[in-house]
Amino acid sequence: MRTADWQLWDVQGVAEAIESYWAESPAEKAHRDLLAALCTRYLPAPDLDVLEVGCGTGRIYERLVPRLVANERYTGVDLSERMLAIGRERFPRARFLAGDGYGLEFADGAFDVSLAFEVVGHLPEIGPFLRELVRVARRTAIFTVWPAADEDGGVVESQEEILGARFLHRQYSHDYLLGQIREHLPDAALDLEVGILGAGCRAYALRRREGSPGLAFTRLFPVQA
Ligand SMILES: C[S@@+](CC[C@H](N)C(=O)[O-])C[C@H]1O[C@@H](n2cnc3c(N)ncnc32)[C@H](O)[C@@H]1O
Repeated sequence: MRTADWQLWDVQGVAEAIESYWAESPAEKAHRDLLAALCTRYLPAPDLDVLEVGCGTGRIYERLVPRLVANERYTGVDLSERMLAIGRERFPRARFLAGDGYGLEFADGAFDVSLAFEVVGHLPEIGPFLRELVRVARRTAIFTVWPAADEDGGVVESQEEILGARFLHRQYSHDYLLGQIREHLPDAALDLEVGILGAGCRAYALRRREGSPGLAFTRLFPVQA
């Protein structure tokens, strides 16, 4: 049932409508500039193995490959067959695979860096998803969220409607996210960095470190294109 909402992407025309919005919107372009700038911090040379969970139609792939990630070192997975089909048509050389972020078919530490951009805000349950994202990353797992104020009780939930299909839209408070990470990753030794991508988006980067398990909050930094 966790994945049922996402089959809506495959309703006739919805994936295509979303893809044309992403292609044409100046705000989307500016946002993706910020995501690419964020990635330069964690992908200093194109020699790391990168997994993108919820790769959609390849809008992040085209920002990363080949400047920040070599084509053969990039893997994208997504639940939506329509999104994957659009991505494969646009980028025939890319490795876009069908897969579910709640149960990734990769070994522990199979990648250096794992990414999930604009995905966790659509999920009904984030802890198990984040556990998987961190499990497959040797170095760093990075995900973006739409922030909520801490006093709102953790999660502000609404719905987005596109061509009659409704999607879950959730904003998370910082305290809620810390709680989920601590609860679902009790054995991992992690440093957390938080990048601010404007008022409406934050990037959480969980970096593995040596030493005893626990989550250390290291820094908050602005992301500029
Ligand atoms: C808003 S789109 C973002 C796409 C891409 N990350 C980008 O920024 O262009 C969210 C994507 O996450 C995918 N998705 C949602 N839940 C997922 C899951 N459990 N596993 C894998 N993909 C998922 C959806 O199919 C959709 O393509």
